[in-house]
Amino acid sequence: MINIGILTISDKGSKGQRQDKSGEVIRDAASLVNGKVLKYEVVPDEKDIIAATLSGWADSGKIDVILTTGGTGLSKRDVTPEATLSVVDRVVPGFAEAMRVKSLEKTPTAMLSRGVAGQRGNCLIINLPGSPRAVQECLDVIAPAIPHAVEIIKGEVTEHSLQDAGIH
Ligand code: MTE
Repeated sequence: MINIGILTISDKGSKGQRQDKSGEVIRDAASLVNGKVLKYEVVPDEKDIIAATLSGWADSGKIDVILTTGGTGLSKRDVTPEATLSVVDRVVPGFAEAMRVKSLEKTPTAMLSRGVAGQRGNCLIINLPGSPRAVQECLDVIAPAIPHAVEIIKGEVTEHSLQDAGIH
């Protein structure tokens, strides 16, 4: 079981002025990676608030993967990547690289997401774009790699799990 935190970053959503459809898409997809959603919050596009929430969840030791949605684009209020980079110990570029490459097959605007991914302690933090469609498309790309990523981070890789992941 993978413990998941969903952090939706939206000024309007945080004021209750917009339904969080993207967060719902992530929640629905959590079962695909044998995930259980333990934390969920909607916060405004404020770097300090985003960073504090990410680090708080990661340092709680209870969350394996935080999936953020929103705030990865080019508007002045889009600061999710900066907030994420300010709290991770190291970046894990492959997630964002894969999402952009595969998303580009669907839309040229995939280039406009500046999302990043990284590790803070034993927690993996991944930025997804904001629209529900983009969230679904990106989750389809990264979901197959998440269980093995979590196993490695937690030091639970065994010969058996490698076979399950199709690695040996
Ligand atoms: N990625 C996928 N797979 N599908 C999409 O429709 N939309 C793009 C991009 N990534 C999109 C996508 C658009 S239009 C923008 S502006 C950026 O994500 C950033 O979105 P955000 O600011 O809501 O995070």
